[in-house]
Amino acid sequence: MNRQALIDLIKQKKEFRDLDNSFVEKMLDARLKGKKVEDLKPRDAEKMEKETRAYLREVYGAFLTPKFFQREKFLQKLKSLNDKEGHEKILGLHLSTRERLPYYEEIYQKIFEVTGEPSSILDLGCGLNPFSFPFMNLKDIRYYAVELVKTDAEFIQRYFDKFKINGKAINMDLTQAENLPSADVCFMFKVIDTFEAIQWDVTAELMAKIKAKWIIASFASKSLGGRKAINPEKRKWFEKLIAGRNYSVFEVENEVFYIIKGA
Ligand SMILES: C[S@@+](CC[C@H](N)C(=O)[O-])C[C@H]1O[C@@H](n2cnc3c(N)ncnc32)[C@H](O)[C@@H]1O
Repeated sequence: MNRQALIDLIKQKKEFRDLDNSFVEKMLDARLKGKKVEDLKPRDAEKMEKETRAYLREVYGAFLTPKFFQREKFLQKLKSLNDKEGHEKILGLHLSTRERLPYYEEIYQKIFEVTGEPSSILDLGCGLNPFSFPFMNLKDIRYYAVELVKTDAEFIQRYFDKFKINGKAINMDLTQAENLPSADVCFMFKVIDTFEAIQWDVTAELMAKIKAKWIIASFASKSLGGRKAINPEKRKWFEKLIAGRNYSVFEVENEVFYIIKGA
């Protein structure tokens, strides 16, 4: 089997279909550790396929609900920005936003109390979070939404365009971020553990590239689905990373938020 054939095989699963070949290749390389696909025995190639898929599930696939693939239908049904129920249905298609549903208004109130009302937002690894826009109670906002998968970014752009939100969805692998737009606030909601799983120590590098007055980083405080508490000690490395900056912390049921003054 050659390299491209193995990548194609990995991408045969529906949830990985839209991932860029280059990203799948990067994840595969991390498992191959210098070995050539052509030299692998069939059993080892199968092992690589399984391990790479498990890895891709951890950083991308695990958050998608089965109805995520019908998201276009939900967007078509959305009639206005006042339709909070319709927005909640779309937010419910991704597990990350789904578990935040009861807390959205409270979360944004707490964030903007500290940062003031922003006029621009940079949302990194946004998932479906831009659909929480009506819960922010903001007007005249410039919204930059950055996502790994092109089709996901295009979906968000269609939402921005449909409701004339001054938004730009950007397709980018943030472990190789370049030319990030500057903004008043930058959201890094539940993405840091994901980025670190892709490339250890990438957060410091990424944060140095962010041009924002405030960074709001969040971490899951309970495991996905399992509802098992995640040991706060696991975030100590991040608290060390931001130790030199001014920051405050608040929590909602499944998530802890750090509001960090920009450098
Ligand atoms: C746990 S979800 C969080 C989504 C959203 N921030 C939220 O909290 O609702 C992680 C998100 O990061 C995105 N992601 C993973 N790796 C990425 C990368 N290398 N570059 C950009 N986005 C990435 C995934 O596609 C997914 O949407």
